[in-house]
Amino acid sequence: MIKKGKLTILLILLFTVVYGQNKIPVYGDNTKPLKERVEDALSRMTLEEKIAIIHAQSKFCSPGVARLGIPELWMTDGPHGIRPEVLWDEWEQAGWTNDSCFAFPALTCLAATWDEEMSLLYGVSIGEEARYREKDVLLGPGVNIYRSPLNGRNFEYLGEDPYLSSKMVVPYIKGVQQNGVATCVKHFALNNQETDRFTVNVNVDDRALYEIYLPAFKAAVQEGGTWAIMGSYNKYRGQYGCHNQYLLIDILRKEWGFEGTVISDWGGTHDTRQAVMNGLDMEFGTWTNGLDDGKSNAYDNYFLARPYLDLISSGEMSTTELDDKVRHVLRLNFLTAMNKEKPFGAMVSENHILAGRTIAEEGIVLLKNKGDLLPVNLDNAKVIAVIGENAIKKMTVGGGSSSLKAKYEVSPLEGLINRVGSKAKIIYARGYVGTTGGTYNGVDSGQDLSDERSESELISEACEKAKNADYVIFIGGLNKCEHQDSESADRFGLELPYNQDKLISELAKVNKNLVVVNISGNAISMPWLNEVSAVVQGWYMGSEAGNALAAVLVGDVNPSGKLPFTFPEKLIDNSAHSAGEFPGSDGQVTYSEGIYVGYRWHEKQNIKPLFSFGHGLSYTQFKYGMLKSDKKEMTSSDKITFTIDITNSGSRSGAEIVQLYISDPESYLPRPVKELKGFKKVKLLPGETKSVSFTIDKPALSFFDPDKHQWVAEPGEYAALVGASSSDIKSQLGFLLK
Ligand code: GLC
Repeated sequence: MIKKGKLTILLILLFTVVYGQNKIPVYGDNTKPLKERVEDALSRMTLEEKIAIIHAQSKFCSPGVARLGIPELWMTDGPHGIRPEVLWDEWEQAGWTNDSCFAFPALTCLAATWDEEMSLLYGVSIGEEARYREKDVLLGPGVNIYRSPLNGRNFEYLGEDPYLSSKMVVPYIKGVQQNGVATCVKHFALNNQETDRFTVNVNVDDRALYEIYLPAFKAAVQEGGTWAIMGSYNKYRGQYGCHNQYLLIDILRKEWGFEGTVISDWGGTHDTRQAVMNGLDMEFGTWTNGLDDGKSNAYDNYFLARPYLDLISSGEMSTTELDDKVRHVLRLNFLTAMNKEKPFGAMVSENHILAGRTIAEEGIVLLKNKGDLLPVNLDNAKVIAVIGENAIKKMTVGGGSSSLKAKYEVSPLEGLINRVGSKAKIIYARGYVGTTGGTYNGVDSGQDLSDERSESELISEACEKAKNADYVIFIGGLNKCEHQDSESADRFGLELPYNQDKLISELAKVNKNLVVVNISGNAISMPWLNEVSAVVQGWYMGSEAGNALAAVLVGDVNPSGKLPFTFPEKLIDNSAHSAGEFPGSDGQVTYSEGIYVGYRWHEKQNIKPLFSFGHGLSYTQFKYGMLKSDKKEMTSSDKITFTIDITNSGSRSGAEIVQLYISDPESYLPRPVKELKGFKKVKLLPGETKSVSFTIDKPALSFFDPDKHQWVAEPGEYAALVGASSSDIKSQLGFLLK
């Protein structure tokens, strides 16, 4: 028998639960369909609230609807780690002491792993860091195609090939978004240079647009399911990327079915009516009067703020477009800020450290290794001379909006000392002086590398220390300072800066056991290539850079990275600098090279590159069998599977990235010699053989016909080519598309 008192309590509880259930409004009820929640919230909002949530209220946040309990949305850079907090209305950092992040490797390094599992690991990890910092939208990843080796922001992107970029961006998005953090894939589209980036109008034909520059964005939307897209600064067909009818309405919404949110680049909005009618949902970073330095905290002056409200209030515009924008913003909010299922995240966790180091180790590319100089044999190395500023320079600060305040950063020299320990004596010489500090938006690397010595003094010290060493490891390259791989400042040329070429040649004269490690996000010229024994492509590898590089150099890790872009011998060998224009003039840049970007150009013109797209060596060797297929011909509705055996014929474990290219020798429109359509990373023990398969369908054979405005796979002869790089084909097989 339940006592009266208890019965009363039960009844009160029951009433509270039942009444309470009804109290949760539809828009706040996670169990309701997203669209229903959005419509419910929209119906409850005032005109002023609708206007408020489609533009910024600070440098990196937009208002929610406090009255309804809908939270603010917080954005954060960047693609390689979570940016430190800035002041409400400033770029300058706010000086918090709890916002140091883990710095992940740059996305060129991720691309160089050619490993979708690494991309997922990257996304999950950086998404956890964003979540822990209570951010709702990660402003990345960037997937603009590597058109020229001079583009200052190539280090933030995934290379020159649309297929590789498309495959590598999808897992990153899924990994981030499983944390209840949106990715905001950028910069849509055609932001392939930094020179005149705010105004340049890109002229490109539809074939190149659809076959080269759009695929990674399309994959981000249709396969990755990105919740947001960032418009680009540049113009296309005369309209700014942030309110571009062709890109944002015709392609993104109508052709691809994007249901997410379009966010402007910071300062990329220029006109209210265009922003309203051409698909922009959220305006950030505008200079308040839209043209020059703005008044502080004048967010009501934004194009989508009072000027828009005035157009509606005057009756010139309806709320039709506004309601659509608000729907997209509310959807974003319910997926992120109001997502009650989201995890708590973590910052600089052991998992993130391991992830960052593994991605870096897998992304390092062994370009040359004459006489198997590498890995360093610690059993007989007594003295290792490390030369170069990039051995000691902190690289996580600088480069533009992807700059970070890292919790820590292990330099290459520190990494080598950590690893080598007492096994050998490590001596260091600066060799050259590039930049002596490192600061960005108030974040300082804390290094003062000032050095008054002359170039000749620096070179003679370096050679003196190198000449009797067992190994000489030169660590140089670019450094994310202005014009050296940085946002808003393209490079001036392909050459290494700071007199490094001369230094390398002098070092080669005094010691043949010279290893050159190039740290960069772009190709460089190598006039000394025949003078040195080994070359390693390192990247901006973040907090674990030094440990990852040391692990590869001493052989703890067998390098497996492959180049995500071509290294041309000289700049004129690159299509943007020969057939096309870079960076253009008078506000225009024309991509006259069309679809012939990177290896597509080199193979069309028979220009031998310094190092090919997809190139990367190992400390072991791999043997390829004969390519086989399950059929000789396929119809447009079925598929064909190619298989090849790969054997590790060397004496140590390793991983090989097997690449599949498709060639269509005869077509009614000109096509590249071949195009990447598949890749698989296979790990093999010494002597082990594995079978690798690729299944090809009709889309993989297609090209874009601009007149028909559709993808076409022409019946006829095709060839499948499998190899270790675009220029190292091991086996090929013809087949027929009926
Ligand atoms: C910058 C960049 C963009 C970045 C944004 C916010 O200008 O173009 O990539 O996310 O502004 O910092």
